[in-house]
Amino acid sequence: MKLLFYAAKTYDKKSFDPVRDASFPDIEIDYIDHELEPLTATLAKDYDAICAFVSANVGRETLEILHDCGVKAVLMRCAGFNNVDTEAAKELGITVKRVPAYSPESVAELAMALAMAVNRRLYKAYNKVRENDYSLKGLRGVLMYGKTAGIVGTGKIGAAMCRICHGFGMNVIAYDVYENPALKDFVKYVTLDKLLAESDLISLHCPLMDSTYHMINIENIKKMKDGVILVNTSRGALVNTEELIEGIRLNKFLGVGLDVYEEETGNVYEDRSDEIMMHSVTSRLLSFPNVMITSHQGFYTMEALESIAETTLQNMADAMNGVSTANDC
Ligand code: NAI
Repeated sequence: MKLLFYAAKTYDKKSFDPVRDASFPDIEIDYIDHELEPLTATLAKDYDAICAFVSANVGRETLEILHDCGVKAVLMRCAGFNNVDTEAAKELGITVKRVPAYSPESVAELAMALAMAVNRRLYKAYNKVRENDYSLKGLRGVLMYGKTAGIVGTGKIGAAMCRICHGFGMNVIAYDVYENPALKDFVKYVTLDKLLAESDLISLHCPLMDSTYHMINIENIKKMKDGVILVNTSRGALVNTEELIEGIRLNKFLGVGLDVYEEETGNVYEDRSDEIMMHSVTSRLLSFPNVMITSHQGFYTMEALESIAETTLQNMADAMNGVSTANDC
């Protein structure tokens, strides 16, 4: 069985090869640097499956080319699959599988790390001390203990974030289209409007869909408390970036921590430090002292990488044997 692995990084090879050697010796993996898009889809000729990640273009055109190449399965090595045209894949008879859960706590722990980093301005403090500046100017934060955390989306990652916030001694409220019974002892479900109005920390953990696209817009930002902390580790387009900037200028936020943002495609996992960015909304965001952005690293822990490799290769074996599982998209 032959697998073409797009946009491969060194850490991918380090996590996939040992799992393949130990448990899936029949799978031959070729790693390439290129991102999956229509142009590079042609490279998949005679491969049984391809493996792609969050920034790949797995739209209809790409899928049609993969189909012509003989590819039978698209294996997403991530949870989200909003970049895959699943309707087109179904029409073409291509199986699409993903890794629905690999380490929800890895993402939730980064969400809290971002919340605390912007609250206590850790990025500023780190640089100040390095420059022999021991003043406290610009570093004052707020106490999390006793404050209200509003968690939007209480699936696997949102639930982990609820547990972390509870551990911080926060009052935890949540909004979801379905209530998670595992959280009933310490989480109170409320409407989105009530969550926006009452939370001191708002953390987004719902998937990107038509119904959640730009759910954080200027209208909803105006409903938030002044001095709120907003964290997004889910998908960039949950937040309307231009309107977030408007909200920051209205002094709504104590801090904004983003692991994902609308402009991230093209940036994710690339070193672009030598480039001059022409029209970057991200650069504008970073000009504010209360914003911290990381580049889609929520999943990036040793434990999560190992789990992603195990599930993806099992997905390949299942797809080749025509086995449907809960990992089908
Ligand atoms: P999940 O499927 O377990 O939970 C998603 C929750 O969102 C569900 O409870 C669902 O009912 C809820 N939801 C759906 N529509 C909603 C709406 N309109 N309003 C409020 N809640 C709604 O997903 P999981 O594993 O918790 O992942 C959440 C998101 O995190 C993924 O969709 C993905 O985009 C993102 N993610 C980010 C990573 C990173 O590295 N930053 C890594 C992994 C996932």
